[in-house]
Amino acid sequence: MKRRHFIKKASLTGVGLAVGSSLVSCDEAKSKEQSAEKTIANQSTATVPLVIATWHVIDATAKAMEILQADGNALDAVEQGCRVEEANEKGQSVGKGGLPDRDGNVTLDASIMDKHGNCGSVIYLQNITHAISVARKVMEDTPHVMLAGEGAKQFAVTKGFEPENLLTEASKEAWEKWKIEAKYKPIINIENHDTIGMLAIDKNGDISGACTTSGLAYKMGGRVGDSPIIGSGLFVDNEVGAAVATGLGEEVVKTVGSFLVVELMRQGKTPQDACEEAISRIVNKPNSDYKNFQVGYIAVNKQGKTGSYSIHQWFSMTKFQGGVNEQIQSDYFNKA
Ligand code: GLY
Repeated sequence: MKRRHFIKKASLTGVGLAVGSSLVSCDEAKSKEQSAEKTIANQSTATVPLVIATWHVIDATAKAMEILQADGNALDAVEQGCRVEEANEKGQSVGKGGLPDRDGNVTLDASIMDKHGNCGSVIYLQNITHAISVARKVMEDTPHVMLAGEGAKQFAVTKGFEPENLLTEASKEAWEKWKIEAKYKPIINIENHDTIGMLAIDKNGDISGACTTSGLAYKMGGRVGDSPIIGSGLFVDNEVGAAVATGLGEEVVKTVGSFLVVELMRQGKTPQDACEEAISRIVNKPNSDYKNFQVGYIAVNKQGKTGSYSIHQWFSMTKFQGGVNEQIQSDYFNKA
């Protein structure tokens, strides 16, 4: 399947932060707005609710926005949005239909984080399509943050998730072809997307985030990427903003990428500048092999401003805000 190469511009309107008046008093809303303005100076505000996601996933952002428009919270929105892609068998990097590891096993990583800084993740989960919902159950129903492998699967089963075969005919065929040469090499911008990460701000102005993936295609058995590692694949700070990563997880883990983006926003950088700085930490390492792999970040700050940036061309962000659900092509580092 060919990546769709179309470019649209962001449509930030610069109107005030629309906090739901039925749930938050005017004074509270005003003080929230003032403290956000103090933290990040000289930025116009934008309309909420809003949702952004990695890659071209307009059905997923539409689902999330449906929840936000019905006064749902950001946590429900990002979980339900990610579930759309997990169930989409055509997406070969997430959930059912994800490409397997080199032994033919589809293994999933996912994480989720709420406005209180609570988080949950699953690592190397097999035979359960909706890894993101299992991650949420880990967050809400256990005293832990991470569950891995067979333990994660057993936990999911006790919570009512039905085990199923996640290796579709198409992914099996691709794996059989790969086995002929069995070359292990990350593919830049694999298929039509990679990890799905989603960040949302609800009508109360609260932020949550989620990400879900089948990880690198044909990875070594047992390999874990950035997506279930809180701070690497995903980070949310409801006072500042949130970030999520896609691409070669090893490089994101080495720079604790999503936490870095949020901390840079805390220091006053815009989401765009923060994403660019996080990419620069990867590409400017001595002996960086960045020409051979992709990493991309998306971010949102408390005021609803967004940013996205990647190493290579053709990374994109889907953004649903102010009634517009659109794919936005990201700027990128490697223009040589
Ligand atoms: N970013 C997904 C992974 O590396 O597993």
